[in-house]
Amino acid sequence: MATIKDVAAKVGVSVATVSNALNGKPNVGSAVRRKVLRAAKDLGYRPHRAAQAMRKGRTRAIGLVLPDLTNPFFPQLAQTVENKARKLGLLVCLIDSQDSLEGEADGLTLLAQHGVDGIIWCPVGPRIPRPIHAFGRPVVLIDRPRPGFAIVQSNNLMGGQLLAQYALRHGHTRVGLLSGPRSVESAQQRRNGFVTAHPRQIEIAWEVRVGFDGILPPEACAALLERRGATLVVAGNDLIAINALRWLTQHDVRVPDDVSIVGFDDISWARIVSPRLTTIAQPLVAIGTRAVELLEERLSGAAIADRATVFDVTLVERESVKSI
Ligand code: RIB
Repeated sequence: MATIKDVAAKVGVSVATVSNALNGKPNVGSAVRRKVLRAAKDLGYRPHRAAQAMRKGRTRAIGLVLPDLTNPFFPQLAQTVENKARKLGLLVCLIDSQDSLEGEADGLTLLAQHGVDGIIWCPVGPRIPRPIHAFGRPVVLIDRPRPGFAIVQSNNLMGGQLLAQYALRHGHTRVGLLSGPRSVESAQQRRNGFVTAHPRQIEIAWEVRVGFDGILPPEACAALLERRGATLVVAGNDLIAINALRWLTQHDVRVPDDVSIVGFDDISWARIVSPRLTTIAQPLVAIGTRAVELLEERLSGAAIADRATVFDVTLVERESVKSI
């Protein structure tokens, strides 16, 4: 592999000039910079990050810790983070907490041992685990806020309100809720947004709590078959909605003819199930990009702990709801 000395020899300048040219330092003329960049490209020179880390105390690697990579929401989010990070020359080290506090703590410890410069994190539980307290470097939260940390998330309350307005517009005034876990803020916010939007026009016929992994407990399966007059099922995320759709179809209940369903997230599967799912889209590119930008700002010395970025969500109408 070509070294910085090879580039310097090819152009006929010092190693320091090559380093300054490659790092965009102002004390290099444009003609020399062009020659250096051309030579580096021709020789296939890539900076040796480990050597740079020894000199600068930065690895240019960041950690990304997410709760459950089997839920398409998180790989889609990871892709937006990695796309932005790579444009900044940052390596992303991905950890799947597998919705386990122990798995999350182990992953955070591993990232600290590998010396990542900072971490983007979607927490599993309500408390701040010890490895985060001991980390001592920048941390940016995604989706689930905690006191003292910068947060980037969707406006979940708005999403619940949009679904309530949509339900009324299509004549649904008696609704069943398959709400997400009470312990996850995003589930509570979108559920409360729906329930409080039009409380005098929309009656909640029943509510069952379901994990964000979408696995339906027996009481959810029973509620879907009984329905007790509910004409619309509002699910806490798309995985719950898709599992409910599958359960109803297996029991000869037609969606949307017999009952309508809406989800939340707009994961890729929402577009391939039949009928395609009406849902709320979270702006994942904006969320992932902003999280990396915030981390980079903090790594450049800016104070960000009180930064909260909340992005609007949008309703995506497909075929899982009918007007009555
Ligand atoms: O589907 C996974 C859920 O966990 C998403 O709705 C996201 O908001 C996160 O909280």
